[in-house]
Amino acid sequence: MPTAGSPYASRMTTSGAEQFESLLANRARIGFGVPVHTPRPSMSALYEFGGGYPDPESFPYEGMIEATKQMLAAEGAAAMTYGDAQGYRALRELICHKYEVFEAFKAEPENIIVSNGSGQALALAFSAFVDPGDVIITEAPTFSGTLNTMRRHGPEILDVPLDEEGIVTSAVRERLESLRRQGRRAKLIYTIVNFQNPAGMCQSLKRRHELIALAHEYETLILEDDAYGELRWGGETLPPLYALDRGGRVIRAGTLSKILGAGVRIGWLCAPKEMIPAFQGFLFGGGVNPFMSRVATYFLRDNLVPHIQRLIAVYKAKCDATLRGLDDTLRGTDYSVSRPDGGFFLWMKLPSGTDQKKLSELAVEARVQYTPGPAFFPHKGGGENHIRLAFSYESPEKCYEGARLMGKAIVGAR
Ligand SMILES: Cc1ncc(COP(=O)(O)O)c(C=O)c1O
Repeated sequence: MPTAGSPYASRMTTSGAEQFESLLANRARIGFGVPVHTPRPSMSALYEFGGGYPDPESFPYEGMIEATKQMLAAEGAAAMTYGDAQGYRALRELICHKYEVFEAFKAEPENIIVSNGSGQALALAFSAFVDPGDVIITEAPTFSGTLNTMRRHGPEILDVPLDEEGIVTSAVRERLESLRRQGRRAKLIYTIVNFQNPAGMCQSLKRRHELIALAHEYETLILEDDAYGELRWGGETLPPLYALDRGGRVIRAGTLSKILGAGVRIGWLCAPKEMIPAFQGFLFGGGVNPFMSRVATYFLRDNLVPHIQRLIAVYKAKCDATLRGLDDTLRGTDYSVSRPDGGFFLWMKLPSGTDQKKLSELAVEARVQYTPGPAFFPHKGGGENHIRLAFSYESPEKCYEGARLMGKAIVGAR
C-alpha cells in the first residue's frame, strides 16, 4: 500500500479509472471492471467442493525438484532466456506423445501452440475468431470460466442442451439452420468432450461424428475443450473430435493443470498448422513460460503414465466417497446425481422443493463450499435446481464427511 505522501498516493484514488476509461479500446471496455474470479480454495470453508482444484497431496514435489536439477544441468541458459514463439519444442513433442498414448491419435509439434493454461488457450481461440456480435454456440451447462472469457469477446451466445450423450446435436442443427435463414453463421461451437464440466458425461461417438458433419455443413469451427480426459477409471476412451475430423474444422484445447498442477500454468491449442499464426499474433514472441515448460517436460518424460495412473486411483476414491456421503443422507429423496467415469465433478439435481437460498445459508453454517447451478449457464434461468460438487480437492475421508454435511443441508433446505 502506498503511504500518504508517497508519490503514488494521489494516483490511487477511486476516480483513477476516470482518467483513462474514455481512452480504453472497445475490446477492453467489454466487461471492464467486472471482478476477475481467482480460482483458489475458500479460506472459510472446511469442506472445499467449490472449484476444480487438483489434489495437493498428489503434486510430485520431489519429482519436480529432480526434474528442475536435471533440466538446468542439461539446458542451462536456454531455459532462462526467451523461447520459441510457439512454445518449447520438446513440450510440444511430449503433448503429441501424450495424445498417442492416451487417445491413439497423431498430431505434430507444428500443430501445437503453448499457452498459459488452457484458459488462455481458449481466449486465444476467441481472440482469433470472435468479434463483438459474432455467434458462439455452446452446450449448457458449461464451464463458468470459459463463459467469462467468452463474454469478454462480446459474442451473442446461443446455448444448446446436453443429455447423457453430451451435446444435443439436433439442437445444434436447429440453431445453425435458424442462423442460416437470417444470412448468418456461427463462428464457433464450444464443447467439453470428456467428463464434461460440470455435468460429467462424455460425448458419444455418434454425437462426435454428427457435430463434425454439422461444422462442415454450416461452415463453422468446433472448439473442443479437454481438461480431464486422461483421468478415466471407467468406460472407454473415444477418439477426440480433432482426430475424427478430416477437414481442419476442429481446434482442441488441452492443459497440464489437472494432471501435473494448475500452478505450472501450461496449456495449449492443437489446431491445423495453417491456423497457428492466427493465435500466435496474440502472444509475445518469446514463447509462454519456457522455464516451466522445460521442468514439466523433464518430469513427464519419465513419469507420464505412472503419475497419471496414481492420480486416477486418487480421484476415483474421492468420487466414490463423495457419492457415498450423499447417498447416505439423501436416500429416500428424489435427488439425482451424475456418476462419472472420471474427471473432477458431480452434477446434482436437488430434491424437489429445495430452496437454493436457504441451502446456501445452511452450507455456509456447515462450512461446505459448492457451486450453484446457474453459474454454468450463459443466460438467466438455467441450473436453478442444480449444484456442482468438485470432489478433487479434499481427502476421501473429508469428501465423505463433507458430502454428508452437504446432504444434511439439502434436507434442511426443503
Ligand atoms: C473444462 C475446462 N477447461 C479449461 C479449464 C482451464 O484450466 P487451466 O487454465 O488451468 O488449464 C478448466 C479448469 O477448471 C476446465 O474445467
